[in-house]
Amino acid sequence: MLGEKIKSAIRDVPGFPKPGIIFKDITPILKDAVLCESITAAFAEKVSELRADVLCGVESRGFLFGMLLAQRLRIPFVPVRKEGKLPYRTLKQAYDLEYGRSTVEMHEDAVLPGQRVLVHDDLLATGGTITAVSEMIGRAGGQVAGYCFLLELGFLNGRARLAPYSENIYSLTVYE
Ligand code: PRP
Ligand code: MG
Repeated sequence: MLGEKIKSAIRDVPGFPKPGIIFKDITPILKDAVLCESITAAFAEKVSELRADVLCGVESRGFLFGMLLAQRLRIPFVPVRKEGKLPYRTLKQAYDLEYGRSTVEMHEDAVLPGQRVLVHDDLLATGGTITAVSEMIGRAGGQVAGYCFLLELGFLNGRARLAPYSENIYSLTVYE
């Protein structure tokens, strides 16, 4: 089963980026071209019914499968970046981290009013990042059609924060 294949490809790295954290390293997945193809196909099958007009992928690990999936769905890809990386005029959305604050940005013409937006990232943890992305899409006049993630840390309950924007939340692998 795909979820099990993903889990067995992920490498746990204890102590990164700081003591006490066990980092879920997805880079071994990227070395397996057949697995990457299966992941992209599984995403496409799950989300095609959402009829998204555009896909937003979140820097940086959300770019990897985000672009592959957008190509597969034949829809535009929009990079959502961390602050200060995009060259043109942007919308910004600040959000709280465990310690401090961060900001996501996208070009102001990336999502157009009335568009249905599929949001992708590699990981749903607390949901802080994706909530900020969802708010920003709403300010652009877009509507979140759904979300797709490679991994979800279910015990952090990020899913509950996304429900007000869209109930269509697909994760290929969940750590309960
Ligand atoms: C990680 C991960 C998600 C986010 C999930 O990204 O790739 O984007 O955190 O956490 P949350 O649900 O609690 O917001 P990170 O900010 O570490 O950056 P990276 O993708 O550039 O490595
Ligand atoms: Mg990330």
